[in-house]
Amino acid sequence: MINLAAFCAVALSFLDVTRGAADLGLPTNVDLEFKLGPTGKNGKVAAGWWASWNVDRLPLDKISWEKYTHITYAFAETTPSVNELSISGEGDLVDKFVSTAKSHNVKALVSVGGWTGSRFFSTAVGSPANRTAFVRTITNFAKEHNLDGIDFDWEYPNLQGIGCNTISNRDTPNFLSFLRELRAHPIGKGLILTAAVPITPWPDPNGNPSDISPFAKLLNHVAIMNYDIWGSWSSAVGPDAPLNDTCAPSRYQQGSAVSAIKAWTAAGLPTDQLVLGVPAYGHSFLVNQPVALTEQGDIAAYPQFEPEQPRGDSSDEAPGVDACGAQSGYSNIFNFWGLVEGKFLNERGEPLQGIHYRYDECSQTPYVYNATSQVMVSFDDAKSFGVKGEFIKNYGLRGYAMWESAGDYRDILIDAIRTGGGY
Ligand SMILES: *[C@@H]1O[C@H](CO)[C@@H](O)[C@H](O)[C@H]1NC(C)=O
Ligand SMILES: *[C@@H]1O[C@H](CO)[C@@H](O)[C@H](O)[C@H]1NC(C)=O
Ligand SMILES: *[C@@H]1O[C@H](CO)[C@@H](O)[C@H](O)[C@H]1NC(C)=O
Repeated sequence: MINLAAFCAVALSFLDVTRGAADLGLPTNVDLEFKLGPTGKNGKVAAGWWASWNVDRLPLDKISWEKYTHITYAFAETTPSVNELSISGEGDLVDKFVSTAKSHNVKALVSVGGWTGSRFFSTAVGSPANRTAFVRTITNFAKEHNLDGIDFDWEYPNLQGIGCNTISNRDTPNFLSFLRELRAHPIGKGLILTAAVPITPWPDPNGNPSDISPFAKLLNHVAIMNYDIWGSWSSAVGPDAPLNDTCAPSRYQQGSAVSAIKAWTAAGLPTDQLVLGVPAYGHSFLVNQPVALTEQGDIAAYPQFEPEQPRGDSSDEAPGVDACGAQSGYSNIFNFWGLVEGKFLNERGEPLQGIHYRYDECSQTPYVYNATSQVMVSFDDAKSFGVKGEFIKNYGLRGYAMWESAGDYRDILIDAIRTGGGY
């Protein structure tokens, strides 16, 4: 299966994110008819996606279950038939996943969609008959596997993702109608329903941010995929997962946790239903040494990179043809464990001797650079995860969701965000 599920990279520039800057500290109460999801200590969500194709790296019995309230299996992909989902993973892996999660008192969800699996979302919710059929597909699937919930990772309503998704300017209102019908279903009523969303709110038929308040009444929580903000498609090396960007020069303001939370709360999503998506990986770039380093030998800010895309860590598969039939390059992704394996970081997740390191105070994320291989990686480490945890706590967000559980190394990242967030 394909592992690029998290790319939310399209420049979502249709929204002026400073519009009506919401008060980040004010949770709004919503009247939820269905049961709210379980909460950890202090009522927080501690979530992660578990990528089924990484089962060998992180077998179910090796997950640090006690550090999660929810774990979401990736993925059930949409298919040309509204009556069928295509499940990644072998045999009865979903059932093993669900029973293991439940034995640890962790809520088991399955994520529908993902980067390659969103191709037929638009048609699945595209007509009243299809919505009814898709509700049946989802509820049958949830019942068959005894799921606690469903996560919708539609990349993206009314915006192209991988390149060959079905798409309609009615996607967002159709999705709302679908969720209403799902909640009205006897099985759908009892499910935890969540969504993974880009940093700007789903667009209405005119391309403006939709009113999200009706979604807030139907979804338990929404995880903002605040990663892949900069990557090989960008003009320079920038942060994968910036906490803030309003402190950066204006040409480098591409969105951040701060801008995303302003935009989604302004669109009507209460802060206490917002979960911050955080990456256990970074993006690598080939950067010539004179450009990469200042005269003092420090990593330069936003350096230009070479067009040649370097391979990421050892799990980065050789370039091939993607689900749309297009030739794709390396993902350039370094999982956090891959930075240890690739000799950028030591076993404690700190830069090794001889590796250049920069911590950017605006994005609150680090960079590493190997001047011999000329590979630079922008990523998240224990410090940046700790700061994100504090941000979640200080702004009254519901919690974190990590893409993806197998990316961490010895729980360095997850422990840091839990400590920062007061879990
Ligand atoms: C309904 O779903 C079918 C696939 O099952 C699809 O071919 C058709 O285009 C969909 N209808 C709409 C209006 O999206
Ligand atoms: C983001 O940056 C702006 C501008 O420097 C600053 O005023 C604001 O406090 C920062 N927010 C956070 C959460 O760091
Ligand atoms: C940098 O990369 C080179 C070439 O891949 C490798 O030999 C070296 O160990 C790496 N680390 C440092 C600190 O140079």
